[in-house]
Amino acid sequence: MEIIIASSPAETATIAADFVCRVLARQERPVLGLATGGTPFLTYRELISRYERGEVSFHTARAFLLDDYVDLDTDHPERFREVISRDFTSHVDFPEGVVYSLDGSRSRPEEVAAAYEEAIVAAGGIDLQLLGLGRNGHIGFNEPSSSFASRTRLILLAETTRRDNARFFDYDLESVPRLAMTQGIGTILDARHLVLIANGRAKAAPVAATIEGPLTAMVPASALQLHPRVTVLLDKAAASGLQHTDYYQQAHAATA
Ligand code: F6R
Repeated sequence: MEIIIASSPAETATIAADFVCRVLARQERPVLGLATGGTPFLTYRELISRYERGEVSFHTARAFLLDDYVDLDTDHPERFREVISRDFTSHVDFPEGVVYSLDGSRSRPEEVAAAYEEAIVAAGGIDLQLLGLGRNGHIGFNEPSSSFASRTRLILLAETTRRDNARFFDYDLESVPRLAMTQGIGTILDARHLVLIANGRAKAAPVAATIEGPLTAMVPASALQLHPRVTVLLDKAAASGLQHTDYYQQAHAATA
């Protein structure tokens, strides 16, 4: 893993945006994997600023969301499809209809999941997948006990996840959905480059378990150890539980 310890969340966002811009510049038809939640917000803001300055364009790109809630009203503001549009995609020049999301309102989750997997393959696979990290070590909504070979599917959200996300629902736990659709860990591992961003002390323990802990289904993000191209972008607080920070910093300086 390439582990980069930045001075601030803003710097993690700048570096993540650099990776996205590189993919957009290099690929003829770039495919981005987008996360929601609080973490990538600054990255999206940075990308919007670069787009407004004419430094980057998304007109040849397509994007796939990692996950979405099930059973929220179609136009609910916390549906991830709405969130990503509000926070990012509607502010830049993605063509109409190329930002794919998991439809959590349908009654047949297996069909939705299979169609999503097929759409990713038909797009040529995901070039760069942005990831946040749950306090319980989840990536996407792959909660602890998820198989490393899991594919896109319906999942029951863990209590910690629902509590963490209650802030998006006026702190009313009862309004946080219990079910979600998520890309599986196997699906995520198929992307060509994974960029995990984590900021803040609350992420220190799952970051340490992800990078330095054993491979275990109880820390779904530990599966990233199996991927040949992973970049982990951390602010100092999120890196504070790591044992080998000197080595990571030297390794990054030596190979950057
Ligand atoms: C969101 C997602 C989740 C979040 C994670 C961290 O699409 O897949 O894995 O990345 O729950 O959430 P924040 O960034 O709000 O701390």
